[in-house]
Amino acid sequence: MCGIIGYTGPRQAAPILLDALKKLEYRGYDSAGMAVISHDAIQVRKMRGRLQLLANMTRDGRDLPGTVGIGHTRWATHGEPSYYNSHPHLSNSGRFAVVHNGIIENYRPLKDMLIQKGYTFLSATDTEVISNLMEYCDQGDLARTLMAAVKHLQGSYALGVLSADEPDHIAAVRQDSPLIVGRGEGENFIVSDIPAILNLTRDVCLMKDGEVALLDPKGITFYNEYGEIFEKESFHVDWDVSAAEKGGYEHFMMKEMMEQPTALKETIRPRIKDGRFVLDGLQLDPEWVKSLSMVHIVACGSAYHAGRLGKNLLEGRLGIPVDVDIASEFRYRHPILRPDHLVVIISQSGETADSIAALREAKGKGVKTLAIVNVVGSTIAREADYTLYTWAGPEIAVATTKGYTTQVAALALLTCCLAQERGQMSGEELQQMEALLLSLPDAAEEVLSDHKEVQHLASLFFNHKDIFFIGRGIDYSLSLEGSLKLKEISYIHSEAQPAGELKHGAISLIQPGTLVIALATGKRLRDKTISNIQEVRARGAVVLALCLEHDEEIESVADHVLRVPFLCEELQPILAILPLQLFAYYVAALNGNDVDKPRNLAKSVTVE
Ligand code: F6R
Repeated sequence: MCGIIGYTGPRQAAPILLDALKKLEYRGYDSAGMAVISHDAIQVRKMRGRLQLLANMTRDGRDLPGTVGIGHTRWATHGEPSYYNSHPHLSNSGRFAVVHNGIIENYRPLKDMLIQKGYTFLSATDTEVISNLMEYCDQGDLARTLMAAVKHLQGSYALGVLSADEPDHIAAVRQDSPLIVGRGEGENFIVSDIPAILNLTRDVCLMKDGEVALLDPKGITFYNEYGEIFEKESFHVDWDVSAAEKGGYEHFMMKEMMEQPTALKETIRPRIKDGRFVLDGLQLDPEWVKSLSMVHIVACGSAYHAGRLGKNLLEGRLGIPVDVDIASEFRYRHPILRPDHLVVIISQSGETADSIAALREAKGKGVKTLAIVNVVGSTIAREADYTLYTWAGPEIAVATTKGYTTQVAALALLTCCLAQERGQMSGEELQQMEALLLSLPDAAEEVLSDHKEVQHLASLFFNHKDIFFIGRGIDYSLSLEGSLKLKEISYIHSEAQPAGELKHGAISLIQPGTLVIALATGKRLRDKTISNIQEVRARGAVVLALCLEHDEEIESVADHVLRVPFLCEELQPILAILPLQLFAYYVAALNGNDVDKPRNLAKSVTVE
């Protein structure tokens, strides 16, 4: 995710900005930049690539003199990583500079409006709209101008703004994206993550949505959402730096699991506009969409598991066959691909070698390709005909969590969009899906708010040698992901079986005391799964059932029960995977494993 830093004080700003940006590197980024005020003009230096290049280019900041500045590390969202898309962005006159974290959902109409007023744009970003909007709304007072500009914005943002007309000041505001103000002695800071300024100050003020801060070396003025000045208390940070980098969590994996409500919100919300599903980057010919006769989903690992849930969604709503394949298999099996087929490649990193090869195989056969990718500008995103991004932000932990859940959400969005264009969902059905998708982030938040039971269960089973997951239908696809999550970080042998397949072989492995995690969140096949639970219990298995709230009957057949609230059959896996991710995490942590970097695994598998 992007990082923001701002400095105003007596010292040279650029070296301080560079040092703070270095501390934000762990968050992942693809470009970096700084803007510093010098002789009442704003100087910008920015570039694609590593921060060290920016440091070299500015001779560690010495070539960018000035005592007030803002800096940014960018994780691309709108527009690929490039010089022009890097922050800070200047307004047309060069009088305002802006750094931004988040996504402006209505940037298109704002950009059109500004173009009509004569503004020009150099980048493909949503952020450049803000710098020009500052100029358009100029009130001759930086804080008031920022207040006026943000009234036009929809979406999430943390902003740091400079004005050449107020050369001592930085203005800042946030909405649904973190922003912190640091108080120093004769110097002040803005920052998106506390660890980046812990060597400079430990006195910080947490900004709330809609509040504006105006900083100069002598002090900080806070304005509430009505534009009234108020006093804000600061608090003293006493955490150590490494805990702070992980947002106070012990591991990135936990941080990323807890980020899922936000990641889902960022992925879903901008794609639902005025009661319609609108997928940016997916300008498919309507006639072709109507003629679409088959979808092939191709991916690796967890992305493949997400793809299996996509099959359920797409087949259910479009009534056409959907094939799901593992990329390393697909690329060598000479798949039958026709011009009225669509190949969907799913990849968090966008750099997985087998998925790239599968994409090229499909393109070579002249079939349309669509990528569901998290990393903007990655190989798969660039090479696919169409790209639907998951806005999960960078994933640092090797085991994917928010990457996977946002992939499933993106597949639901794709399904609804295609069904809408093919006239296969009524207005009422579309509305229902919209409401359900929009309620997902809160529902996920609720599931993630209480870990006690999962922790307790992890403490009972962390030293088991073999763990089986069973389920039917979507619960089987979910079992595959639950089992993968557990084995990759806990090193416990674990396998997922379709519940109905057990007695064709694997049931011979069930012994007294074997843990079987039975998933029964799908209403249609739940009774069948209960019969399978009884079969394994009859052979001495200990059963942990994952079921829906209010499913009392499961209590009588399972030894332990975890519950998730009911949302709807198709989207249920996004909620149901959350306790399984937590279970895997706590089991691995209790085994003393390196949760974020499990042995033998890499975050991005760039070799075959
Ligand atoms: C499991 C995991 C992997 C990835 C797989 C594909 O937690 O992270 O199974 O899902 O390596 O990676 P991407 O999605 O980057 O193509």
